Amino acid sequence: MAASKHLLAVAKAARLVNVRRAELQRRIKSGELTTFEGMIDIADLAQAYPAVSLDYNPEVERVRQIQDKAFGKRLLERILPEPEVLMARVSQLSKELLQAHDQIGSYRNFLAQLKALLAEPAVADTSDEVLRARVYRWLRAHDDVLLNAPAASGALVQQSRALQIMAPHIRIMPSEHEYFVEGNDSILEAGLREGLAIDYGCSNGNCGKCKARVISGQAQQCRHFDYRLSEWEKAEGYILMCAHTPVTDMVLEAHEAGSAAELPRQDIVTKVKAVDALSENIALLHLQTPRTNRLRFFAGQSVQLHYGAKATVTLPVASCPCDDRNLQFHVSRLGVEDFYRFLQVGNVKGGNLRVTGPEGEFVLDDDSARPLLFLAMDCGFAPIKSLIEHAMAVDNAPHMSLFRFSERNDFYLDNLCRSWTDALDDIDYHAVTEPASQWLAGLSALLPNLEQMDIYIAGPDSFVAAVSTALAQNSHVSAFVCGAAESPGAE
Ligand code: FES
Repeated sequence: MAASKHLLAVAKAARLVNVRRAELQRRIKSGELTTFEGMIDIADLAQAYPAVSLDYNPEVERVRQIQDKAFGKRLLERILPEPEVLMARVSQLSKELLQAHDQIGSYRNFLAQLKALLAEPAVADTSDEVLRARVYRWLRAHDDVLLNAPAASGALVQQSRALQIMAPHIRIMPSEHEYFVEGNDSILEAGLREGLAIDYGCSNGNCGKCKARVISGQAQQCRHFDYRLSEWEKAEGYILMCAHTPVTDMVLEAHEAGSAAELPRQDIVTKVKAVDALSENIALLHLQTPRTNRLRFFAGQSVQLHYGAKATVTLPVASCPCDDRNLQFHVSRLGVEDFYRFLQVGNVKGGNLRVTGPEGEFVLDDDSARPLLFLAMDCGFAPIKSLIEHAMAVDNAPHMSLFRFSERNDFYLDNLCRSWTDALDDIDYHAVTEPASQWLAGLSALLPNLEQMDIYIAGPDSFVAAVSTALAQNSHVSAFVCGAAESPGAE
């Protein structure tokens, strides 16, 4: 009797054994771990990570901390689902458990009856002793399998169930992107937080643009919605992702923008939340979109900001698309002088600023599993920061290296870069103080695997040109020139 497989998506397997998705992908690629249609058998996972135990698993630790109320109230709200959702998940798992119990009971009955049959004199007296002995041995061996499941994979199955209650897993088809839904998030909110470019409009149950077809699993309504699905859509299993949360792990069919060209051009009136100094010459502009009209963009893209008497400036968004309501920009006094001065006027904060876009092709190649090299000079750090935060959310890159350059020795947000290296093993950061030209001369000795990397360069024209020339042989280079587009009063 072949034991049935307990298959896990790669993201879920990584979370259970507390390693990065890229680490599992590396082991799959090298043949150390086998997959079945992209899924990992839990028994193979337990064998590959024998040290994993219930004692230090992060999911179990989170449950313990919740029990101890070690989390702050706001964090608890983010992690814990509503009681009704929690009840639905527990009741669904109880149903599955009952079915599994019934199934095991039937197997045991079958084995008992078979053993009794073999012990009957008519069968026991068969002259084929060899055959009888073989059948007994076979039965004993499989009895053990049923009665004594391997301890390690048993622990992982238990953790997998706990994870399903706390954070069900979503797989989007055909992109095969995966993520988890935590706390009170809808399926859409959790997907956007993960940096996916899922189609949506209002986030509010009105437009129907976030429709998705359920391929497997169950969802429950978690927000009010006015949009009416047709009878055909209901029969086909369509739901609104902005108004539903998963009860079980789910597979959904939904459209995601595959390239920057697929995103619609948007026109949004945002609120200025803050203007803060990042350094003597750089200001941080924080805009917030309305809750029901957020900006869809890819990390690394730019938007136009409309200000004053019909003036515009084009700036790269410095924040991650995973937070599509809060948009950050690095405004350079030396790069976009008029806009910088406009922001220094006292009544800007709390006012409105119109944003149109997005535009630009300086975006991550999400399908690549190559290491990422980021080279940024001055305000070129803005789009690079967005790319890095997105890469962290997607968790595909095996390694990231960031080199920053500054003509004025202005490594603003230096602490943020250092905090990335403290929090993650697979990112290194270097603030380069020597002239860029000198550094470039020693580049191939410093990074001998340049050919195998995806390289992103951003900064002033002269910097981008010099680096592009030095990397002319590399076929995976993307470049962004900043500080080029300001049109005061020229809309
Ligand atoms: S995004 Fe508009 S209905 Fe979901």
